[in-house]
Amino acid sequence: MRLTESPAYTALTRHSETMRKTHMRDLFAADPGRFAAMHLTLGDILFDYSKNRVTAETLRLLLDLARQEKVEERREAMFAGEKINVTEGRAVLHTALRNRSDRPVLVNGRDVMPEVRMVLARMRGFCKAVRSGSWKGFTGKAIENVVNIGIGGSDLGPQMVCQALAHYARPDLRVHFVSNVDGTHVMETLAQVDPETTLFLVASKTFTTQETMTNAHTARDWLLAHARDEAAVSRHFAALSTNEKAVRAFGIDPDNMFGFWDWVGGRYSLWSAIGLSIALYVGMDRFEELLDGAFAADEHFRSAPLEQNIPVLMALLGIWYNNFLGAQTHAILPYDQYLARFAAYFQQGDMESNGKRVRLDGQPVDYQTGPVVWGEPGTNGQHAFYQLIHQGTKLIPCDFLMPARSLNPVGEHHAILASNFLAQTEALMRGKTEDEARAELERQGLSDEAIERLLPHKVFPGNKPTNSFLFRVLDPKTLGTLIALYEHKIFVQGAIWNVNSFDQWGVELGKQLANAILPELEDDAPATGHDSSTNGLIDWFKKLR
Ligand code: F6P
Repeated sequence: MRLTESPAYTALTRHSETMRKTHMRDLFAADPGRFAAMHLTLGDILFDYSKNRVTAETLRLLLDLARQEKVEERREAMFAGEKINVTEGRAVLHTALRNRSDRPVLVNGRDVMPEVRMVLARMRGFCKAVRSGSWKGFTGKAIENVVNIGIGGSDLGPQMVCQALAHYARPDLRVHFVSNVDGTHVMETLAQVDPETTLFLVASKTFTTQETMTNAHTARDWLLAHARDEAAVSRHFAALSTNEKAVRAFGIDPDNMFGFWDWVGGRYSLWSAIGLSIALYVGMDRFEELLDGAFAADEHFRSAPLEQNIPVLMALLGIWYNNFLGAQTHAILPYDQYLARFAAYFQQGDMESNGKRVRLDGQPVDYQTGPVVWGEPGTNGQHAFYQLIHQGTKLIPCDFLMPARSLNPVGEHHAILASNFLAQTEALMRGKTEDEARAELERQGLSDEAIERLLPHKVFPGNKPTNSFLFRVLDPKTLGTLIALYEHKIFVQGAIWNVNSFDQWGVELGKQLANAILPELEDDAPATGHDSSTNGLIDWFKKLR
């Protein structure tokens, strides 16, 4: 049966007609116990989902949908190492990377945990050597700069986490991230570092990605231009990859290779050796605390009843807006400067996972799948795009994230920040009615004519949904939990939409065409092999450069 014709889906469609007319103001007014009934905790994290356009009936129907689509069975299939990534014939086991229990995790009947622990132990040894200064560069100096060269999942995760945990880092070891194939990125980075004290981590699951390999070769040439000795490469390059053959071919010492496995998707790989830059920056103990936090979320996701399961509720609320109330996007708004890249990270995490148009069986969907994910840290966003969220024509569900304690307590900053977070979620929910707006303008002593003219502009409809994640302090464990909760949300949505959340064929077409165009840029003859726009652009590019 098609999802849209299924009992749970059609019941939700019917229910959405009533809920379109329901205002959250009225829901809060009618039930003083709404917050008490609609929040959950996990570790030091409070998840408040009461400011959503839902009633107990909505939640019941959404949970019916989850059960109908066998979310629990699919979750077990993932944890059990079944090959749920059907188009690539792979298991999906980033959870094994942070399995802090002594339970085995089987892939093709073999326990992968000994290998996982072995790589963690090697990462620990490497971190100790680099951080203690016993690892020397080609002139005998200790490492002061780590440059991670990777893109997509081999860049965004480590970069986001390093920024998020900068408070815990040593000031004398800096990390840099080079991802864009634009030579500006690598050259601007190399200008900041010294070849004698720089360690490059070439992070690539496949070790074939054009951008990463181009940047890695440029970095290698730069190092050799200074060192004038191939032997320097083994002191200054490490590889984080599943492709040992390609790592050897690049000339990186296999002793400096930290492996992972095909059952780790790129956008779920920060928990693997891809996280080495994090471990170097904040230390292996902190990296393992990050894993502990993710493990806590995994255990919660696996064992909590669906009604009290945070990622399940996050997913269902997202589906409610996306599939039944017409929302197109989802905003992630961290009120913590350290989380400045959190939304960018989940832009890949969510959009590469659930940006799909066919179901697992290859049939096209006839319903909406993954939303556009975006966001910026508050309060910057307030002065940029919140206007549209408050008074624009689009419905934009938002997640707010806020630490109760600042890692940089200074003056009134944190109280001001917190008051803004609290005020925004309140304002988005309540809005401002015409009567309230009128009373406010009257208090300002405006003429009747001025009041009538201004009134429509001063009304806020409210009823804008928000989730709030309030946590004690941004530490590695809490961060690990938050990231894993979002990962599982994506999983649950993919399961309900019945898509493969773990492939990404959509990035291939552009790559293929770029490979075809590259040699044409060296050719003097006018381009003829494309549409007239692409031919014209190629010719003008050659003329203008
Ligand atoms: O963007 C496509 C993609 O395959 C991502 O899924 C992946 O994270 C990224 O490219 C980098 O791939 P690799 O780690 O193999 O270099």
